[in-house]
Amino acid sequence: MQQHTGSAVAIVTGAASGMGRATAMTLAKDGWKILALDLVAGTFQGPDGEIEIVSVDVADRVSIKNAIDSYVAQTGASIEAVVNVAGVYPPSTLADFTTESFRKIFDINVLGVLNVTAEAVSHMERGGSVVNFASVDAFSVSPGQLLYGASKAAVVMLTKELALELAPRNIRVNAIAPGWVRTPGNETTGRMDEASKSIPLKRVAEPEEIARWVSILTGTDASFMTGETIVLSGGDVMR
Ligand SMILES: NC(=O)c1ccc[n+]([C@@H]2O[C@H](COP(=O)([O-])OP(=O)(O)OC[C@H]3O[C@@H](n4cnc5c(N)ncnc54)[C@H](O)[C@@H]3O)[C@@H](O)[C@H]2O)c1
Repeated sequence: MQQHTGSAVAIVTGAASGMGRATAMTLAKDGWKILALDLVAGTFQGPDGEIEIVSVDVADRVSIKNAIDSYVAQTGASIEAVVNVAGVYPPSTLADFTTESFRKIFDINVLGVLNVTAEAVSHMERGGSVVNFASVDAFSVSPGQLLYGASKAAVVMLTKELALELAPRNIRVNAIAPGWVRTPGNETTGRMDEASKSIPLKRVAEPEEIARWVSILTGTDASFMTGETIVLSGGDVMR
């Protein structure tokens, strides 16, 4: 565990479900205060009491700015970590994509990362860490994931560019590229059991196994790592 003490705040998007929820729980156990963001508002039980999820659309920069600015104004919090987990992965091909599906996938998966990071780093005077969620589909072609794969490849490159831009402010930027993970969003694909047969470790990951790496990347063990994307796929994709 990367024990974190004090009043440092970690922003976690996509915190209502899957790896976003697991990340919020793991970082809260590490001692971070959590600003949980998701389209879906609500609360969930954290290790030290309820965590409120503030409703935002990551594609809408104004809603992000309002949520972060008002949280900082109310709490005087020091933001020191940002974890961009929110994302969508509907299938698409050249034959069926539309302008709307392109905009939706890129607005949430790519513009969303930029919006949240830009508004958060304006409060990160003490430096810190950003962790973006890419996918193995950024590196390995996945049938029927035309736009999703391209959006996650963009996240990998944004991670490098942002790492360079934010290094002078002592803000590290890294990414995680998961393979198959047992999340509510992934359950809806109905393909997990079949997919696990061809994964060398013969299973999909649990969300908590991915969240442990967010803990490492936001902690001191990763203090000299920036601009990297870590693949966690049980051997499904090797680079
Ligand atoms: N599940 C996997 O196997 C897998 C594999 C590789 C990468 N990923 C990536 O990991 C991330 C998390 O995946 P998951 O399976 O845990 O997701 P999930 O579908 O279980 O949850 C995603 C969350 O993001 C939120 N969200 C969606 N659009 C939003 C928006 N516009 N603004 C704010 N919140 C929004 C949803 O409400 C939901 O709570 C995504 O970026 C996904 O692309 C997932």
